[in-house]
Amino acid sequence: MATTPQDLTITPRDRRFGRGTKQDRWWMGGDPVATAFYNALSASFPKGEAFFVEAVRAFRDGTPPKLEAEIRAFTTQEVMHSREHVAFNKRALEAGYDLTELEQRIEWRLSITRSRPPIVNLAATMCLEHFTAILAHQLLKNPKHLDKADAESAALWRWHAIEEIEHKGVAYDTWLHATRGLSRWKRWKIKAKVMLFVTRNFVVDRSKGTLILLRQDGITGLKAWRKMLWFAWINPGMLRKILGAWLAFFLPGFHPWKHDDRGLIKLAESDYAAAVLPQPAAA
Ligand SMILES: [Fe+2]
Ligand SMILES: [Fe+2]
Repeated sequence: MATTPQDLTITPRDRRFGRGTKQDRWWMGGDPVATAFYNALSASFPKGEAFFVEAVRAFRDGTPPKLEAEIRAFTTQEVMHSREHVAFNKRALEAGYDLTELEQRIEWRLSITRSRPPIVNLAATMCLEHFTAILAHQLLKNPKHLDKADAESAALWRWHAIEEIEHKGVAYDTWLHATRGLSRWKRWKIKAKVMLFVTRNFVVDRSKGTLILLRQDGITGLKAWRKMLWFAWINPGMLRKILGAWLAFFLPGFHPWKHDDRGLIKLAESDYAAAVLPQPAAA
C-alpha cells in the first residue's frame, strides 16, 4: 500500500496577499460567475479549516513522531490559510458582497458534524482533505482556472493549493492510525459512507453559496443555475475534472500519496519565485 513519502517536508509558508489593495468586485477577469464560485469556496475556508485542525489534533496523542510533526506543520498551514481567506473575504465584503448567509450555513453544517463522535469528525476531515487536495491539484495543473484572476488573488489561491497538496496525507495518516484496530472492510465502509455524505453536502452548500452571491449581482432563477452548472461542470468544469481523482478514493489500497504530485508544487513555487524575487540585471 502507498504511504506518505519518507522525504516529504511540510513547509508552512507565511505569506500575505492583497493587503492594502482594493479588490475588484469581479476579480476573476470581470466574470461574476467565476468570482461567485471562488468567493463561495473562500467563504467556507476560515471556519472549515479551523474544524479540520480541531478534528485532526484530537487524535494527535500517541501518533508516531513523524506524523506528530506533520500534524503540527499541517496546523500551522491551515491557520495561515484561514488568516489569508479572512482577509480575502473582507475584500469581497468591501467589494459589496454579503457573505453572512454563507457563513451561517457553514456554522450550521459544522454544528451538526461536531455533535457526532470525534472519529466521525476525523473521517469527515480526511474526506474533505482529499477533496481539497484534488481541487488544488487541478487548480495548479490547469492554468486555465486562474488565468483571468488578478495577480494577488491568483497568488493566494496557488499558495493555498501548494500547501493543500503538501499536507494531503496528514488527515489520512491520522485516520489510519486512529482506526488501526478496525478491519480493512470496516474502515472502507466508514470512509466510503462518509465520503458520499460530505461530497453531497459540499456540492450542495457551495452551489447554494454561489447562487446566493450571483443573486447579489442580479443574476437569478434558471439563468443563475445554468451559468453556475456550466462553470462548475462544463467550462472550465472544475468538478468534472476532479471526478476521476474523487473516484480513486474508493479503490482498495488508496492513499493520497499513491499519486505523487510534488512536481506541481515545485513548478508553482518556481513561478512564484520568478514573480516576487528581484531578477538579476541583464548583462
Ligand atoms: Fe487549507
Ligand atoms: Fe488542508
